[in-house]
Amino acid sequence: MNTAAEVLDLSPVIPVVALDDPAHAVPLAEALLRGGIRTIEMTLRTPAGLPAIEHIAAEVPEIVVGAGTVTEPSQVSRAVDAGARYLVTPGCTDRLLDHVEAVGVPYLAGVSTVSEAMRLAERGVHAMKFFPAEPSGGVPYLKAIAGPLPHLRFCPTGGISPGNAASYLALPNVGCVGGSWLTPKDLLVGGEWGRIEDLAREAAELG
Ligand code: 3PG
Repeated sequence: MNTAAEVLDLSPVIPVVALDDPAHAVPLAEALLRGGIRTIEMTLRTPAGLPAIEHIAAEVPEIVVGAGTVTEPSQVSRAVDAGARYLVTPGCTDRLLDHVEAVGVPYLAGVSTVSEAMRLAERGVHAMKFFPAEPSGGVPYLKAIAGPLPHLRFCPTGGISPGNAASYLALPNVGCVGGSWLTPKDLLVGGEWGRIEDLAREAAELG
């Protein structure tokens, strides 16, 4: 997997996960896989994020693990060294993207304006995250920019749920969506892997 476009093609839904306990990483990844989801975005919002990536990369190599919420250049090589196969950033500052491009893994950079999307296209990147999707205009916004920017594809994230995911996925410029609804905290803490598998299966069927 070498390009952002390939990241968008992994699964109809990218589960965006924040873990408190790295011991949950492997059973979680296995539950998602059983449900038919082939990737997981492990965010670096918690100290468990990096060790969780390490566990998944080593023990569940069938799922493609990415690192999310990458906001600082110092996180970039640590995430890749831990085993992240792609990086996700909520925004797209030049300084951060320079560091991300230097490590050579694909990335989904967050955009919420036409100019940000065009700036990424100038870097040769044509697939990106649309964040935060719902507050930034949601489905109507993505429809409106498909005309002037027909060559760009998006992973909308932020406010996506089972109720609105299908309307995003129906858009020609949406490759997949991202969201945290597959991995609610109570199910993680309770180790309810069967229920997470069910949520994953419903999400996989959206594709
Ligand atoms: C993200 O970082 O991509 C979002 O926090 C996920 O958004 P959600 O919790 O609204 O799904």
